[in-house]
Amino acid sequence: SEAERTPRIEAALEELGDDVVVLGHNYQRREIVEHADFVGDSYELSKRAAEADAEYVIFGGVTFMAESADIITDDDQTVILPSMEASCPMAGMAEALQVDAAWAEITAAAPDAEIVPITYMNSYADLKAFCANQGGLVCTSSNAHRAFEWAFDRGDKVLFLPDKHLGVNTAHRLGMEDDVVTWDPWDPAGKEPVEVAEADIICWDGYCQVHERFTADHVERVRAEHPGAQVVVHPECRREVVEAADVVGSTSTICETVENAEPGETWAIGTEIHLTEHLSRWHPEVEVLPLCGDACMDCNAMRQIDPNYLTWVLEELVAGRERNVIEVAPEEKELAGVALERMLEV
Ligand code: 13P
Ligand code: SF4
Repeated sequence: SEAERTPRIEAALEELGDDVVVLGHNYQRREIVEHADFVGDSYELSKRAAEADAEYVIFGGVTFMAESADIITDDDQTVILPSMEASCPMAGMAEALQVDAAWAEITAAAPDAEIVPITYMNSYADLKAFCANQGGLVCTSSNAHRAFEWAFDRGDKVLFLPDKHLGVNTAHRLGMEDDVVTWDPWDPAGKEPVEVAEADIICWDGYCQVHERFTADHVERVRAEHPGAQVVVHPECRREVVEAADVVGSTSTICETVENAEPGETWAIGTEIHLTEHLSRWHPEVEVLPLCGDACMDCNAMRQIDPNYLTWVLEELVAGRERNVIEVAPEEKELAGVALERMLEV
């Protein structure tokens, strides 16, 4: 039970002291964020990991985030993911080998173009390494527009992976919505060489199964049922949802929006349900609603980080045993590190 578990987690953290830092993504359960030294979006957590002095970084998040932390931290620091099953399905939609094959087709379809690949943070280290190798970089939802600008300073076209919706929403932000084509690696009919040659932005056909489920209907319904309600959504939502919303941004932008709201305002939140619940708890003066009404938008990957596993990895460390270490292979680490450094610079 939580009553039994909390003192165990606190005792282990006290015993480990400065040797450990706990990072928690905004989508983690309450029982995880309550024990975190830092809570934030993917970009903030990657910066925190880079700044951390602790020997152990316990990552409350998903595999790609822990990999990024391992890449950014010093070699003598160890990153631990409390559950090895916490893997983002979107990151799995663009495997490096598959992208490598697509790259050959895409570059052949536009032989005179300089194409710069950009991968969203939500991808595995081998894909980040691929992007660095081809002159590209990594971005998160808070800096995708700047990464696109960086790429267009250096090339003519962008291949954006793996999230189609973030790619399309970023194209709109830059006024380039008419220059987008989608690359569907599972549908040969979807790969039109002519379209690729003409488009400036090629979006891989991946998506987040949590954000993909929000619809423009949800926005309409919440506005009808709660007159005066405003809507904030994550840019992994479909274009029509983002268009219907009042504010769009990363999970930390969503947090700031509610933090800066006037008491009595109503905000409907279009993102993973745990963040909506945190915001409702953290800001009782604001009426915080899930955009989806009763349909629960729960990220299965984030949910894998169960407080029992947090207790386990911490108590194992106290006993001198490292469990669930996330370690990226050295050759990938170096290249993926280049792609992440480019991101931290833009
Ligand atoms: P943020 O970068 O906005 O924290 O989002 C991460 C994520 O996984 C969204 O689904
Ligand atoms: Fe991946 Fe979506 Fe979960 Fe974020 S919310 S970790 S993108 S599945």
